[in-house]
Amino acid sequence: MDLSKIEKIRREFPIFNNGSQESFIYFDSAATTQKPACVIDSISEAYRFCNANVHRGTYRMSREATEHHENARQTIANWIGASPEEIIFTSGTTASLNMVAYSFGDMLLKQGDSLVTTLMEHHSNFVPWQQLALRKNALLHVVSLTETGEIDREAFTKALSDHPKIVAIAHVSNVLGTVNPVKELVAEAHEAGAFVVVDGAQAIAHRAVNVKEIDADFYAFSGHKMYGPTGIGVLYGKRKLLEEMPPFFFGGEMIDKVTTERTTFAPLPYKFEAGTPDFVSSVALAKAVDFITRIGFDTISQHEQLLLHKLTDGLATIKGISILGAAPRKEAVVTFVCDGVHPYDLGILLDELGFALRSGHHCAEPLMNACSVTATLRASMGIYNTEEEVDKLIQAVQRAVKILRR
Ligand code: ALA
Repeated sequence: MDLSKIEKIRREFPIFNNGSQESFIYFDSAATTQKPACVIDSISEAYRFCNANVHRGTYRMSREATEHHENARQTIANWIGASPEEIIFTSGTTASLNMVAYSFGDMLLKQGDSLVTTLMEHHSNFVPWQQLALRKNALLHVVSLTETGEIDREAFTKALSDHPKIVAIAHVSNVLGTVNPVKELVAEAHEAGAFVVVDGAQAIAHRAVNVKEIDADFYAFSGHKMYGPTGIGVLYGKRKLLEEMPPFFFGGEMIDKVTTERTTFAPLPYKFEAGTPDFVSSVALAKAVDFITRIGFDTISQHEQLLLHKLTDGLATIKGISILGAAPRKEAVVTFVCDGVHPYDLGILLDELGFALRSGHHCAEPLMNACSVTATLRASMGIYNTEEEVDKLIQAVQRAVKILRR
């Protein structure tokens, strides 16, 4: 990798160039990514020059804001191989998954039906299905994992033999980094007659996603994990399914006609977008798409895989460190524990040394329980991290562990 290329990309991120970068080494991109100037500027420009509610006004600025918002939808649709009517703007992955669970799930499931999810899911792709199963008196199968932190395919096949109505799986685990073979899993689940919901939160910034190729029925992701703004996300759904699904939120802009007796609803995608949409963030999200497209997934993947292997190998040399997740296909997420050292203590000490890592259960308590740990420390990387930062982190962990073991 041409190092100056990464340095150039890094320079696009104001947070690394505001004079405090020496004491701020960011390893928490799986929680949220930092933002390039093009995204920040887009937000500022919208409020400065084009702030008018969309789809409502007949005046020029409202028409322009509407056009920007709908162009953003088209950009995102093109990027993941969908049509614009299949792109529902939500507040993020959690909202997207809840929308599917409540709207599609409640419509589809009957008492005694079953659903399938896995032990590696983030709570956002676990609790909504658990609650749906409770509402409907249905059975939730939770597929176990292998030693390397991959979905146990035999257990998956066995769960499918119950002919579940819905299968909910992560594309990439936020703890283990495992990249699931979603295309294969979707095909197998379809064969068994299930609809498949994919949580793409941890995949979307790291690999090219084409929803038609994966053939997912629903695919959810967040803007803030892909160099875009917070508070916006996407639910992709197959048009036919979205058409059949009832709206989840009711209110302005999602209606066709309202009388005192009844309401008919707007066509896709608007029937799922009640209220004022975040038309500033949608445009900034499209800028994040442009940013990722400009760099290209080849570059992103090549660089992040280099960092992943460097960090994995480096941490493995520190006595007492164990890494959770050893799948052959991983994204740049390294979650670890250290014998005799509490992850919170290690996290706090690393913070004092200038490193931002996430500690805790990472919203994946079923996985933590399966691994017999209550908390771990996680270093997750983005396109702006450098090899030098990884070297520094390895040295800092070494030093911190020594101090805490004294
Ligand atoms: N889902 C985010 C994470 O894994 C917050 O850290």
